[in-house]
Amino acid sequence: MGAISIVTDLPGPRSRTLGEERRRWVSAGVSAPRHGLFFESAHGARLTDVDGNVFLDLTGGIGCMNAGHSAARVVERATEQLARLQHACIMTGGYEVYVELARKLCAIVPVPGPCKAALFNSGAEAIENAVKIARRATGRAAVLAFDPGFHGRTLLALSLTSKTAYKEGFGPFAPEVYHFPMPEPYRRPRGMTIEAYVERCSEDFHRFLKSTVSPSSLACVVVEPVLGEGGFLVPPVAFLEDVARVCRDHGIVLVADEVQTGFGRTGKMFACEHTGLQPDLVVLAKSLSNGLPLSAVVGRSELLDAVPPGGLGGTFGGNPVACAAALGAIETLEKDGLVARAAALGSQVGSRFDTFVQRFPFVGDARGVGAMRALEIVTDKESRTPDKARTERILDDAARHGVLALSAGLYGNVIRTLMPLVMTDSELGEALDVMQSSLGRVTEAHVP
Ligand SMILES: Cc1ncc(COP(=O)(O)O)c(C=O)c1O
Repeated sequence: MGAISIVTDLPGPRSRTLGEERRRWVSAGVSAPRHGLFFESAHGARLTDVDGNVFLDLTGGIGCMNAGHSAARVVERATEQLARLQHACIMTGGYEVYVELARKLCAIVPVPGPCKAALFNSGAEAIENAVKIARRATGRAAVLAFDPGFHGRTLLALSLTSKTAYKEGFGPFAPEVYHFPMPEPYRRPRGMTIEAYVERCSEDFHRFLKSTVSPSSLACVVVEPVLGEGGFLVPPVAFLEDVARVCRDHGIVLVADEVQTGFGRTGKMFACEHTGLQPDLVVLAKSLSNGLPLSAVVGRSELLDAVPPGGLGGTFGGNPVACAAALGAIETLEKDGLVARAAALGSQVGSRFDTFVQRFPFVGDARGVGAMRALEIVTDKESRTPDKARTERILDDAARHGVLALSAGLYGNVIRTLMPLVMTDSELGEALDVMQSSLGRVTEAHVP
């Protein structure tokens, strides 16, 4: 018997009632869940909604649940901490879990040399602080990010983000923020080899540093080692190496945004480890604390110490319960071998996704690293025109059959996997069978 159990139409009656309440009381600016579901509970890689429907989860709360829903060590450590010391504010009095987590993060990030950490509440907040640290340490103002990157919704983070749907109406944006297009191997000119394409992108990058922003004015370069919201684009290693070389040569702080790629998802603890990229600062959030609000900037001590006391922090940053949850989550990843599990899950998903490219005329590309896998949906393989409408039909059909997944990409035409890494082989097989059937049904419905 499979894991999935769908016992009502979707959304079910209780979800529909709660949806009406939500529309009445919650800002329309907080986007509503696509399938109108309200969840009651979750365990491992299964989500149960308020109508008793059980789903396989390929969303992981947007990549936050790497250690699994209700992971025992996370629940244990967080509840113990909650009962003992809920909050004190690190700026008014110390508590051990903050220091313990900082020490642990410094030990595991792929940054050479002595490290320090500072803790915050969200990915966006950590990004903002990474930029502040880089500016203070270098005395420079300019920041370079990549298009189509995503770094959050607060003003500076949004200024770094490249998607007008998130930005429209919210300007003016922070000044001295520059964007360069990340190479997209799938969309390279037809007939061009990857090597030639990357070479051309690097030439364009160096031209950009002549025409648009001088390396000597750059405080930092912020890069996702695999672009998350941007559509799981995997930057060519040679291009990343070139960016890192420019940073090294010009004293620019290299910031790796590992908010979505971090904590095992790509089959290494951090995605930078696949590329040999050695960032100066690493930004962490999401699966750091398995869903509790917590983020971190970790990196070279002299950078973290370049900011005078009071320059970093906040009331809630590094809350003891969130820190305890993070220690439980990291212990789970390490003791249960979930980083290797991500690689195993990824190779199963990857080979199955490759067959989807062969089989379905509208699946243009399958890509990813480790368990961070994606399918790009296009109108046809020749034109590679993004097909958002079909992507949504696939996701809706999969949800109706018990599998929840998310879209991504500038055009909303990429289907991505962000499952908890505790997903079993049989759960994964079941989820992939559902996805294949959904792709099939969408083909039948729209190909004459
Ligand atoms: C790569 C990346 N950076 C930053 C953020 C922002 O994180 P948060 O939503 O916690 O502010 C996200 C969120 O999706 C992300 O994927």
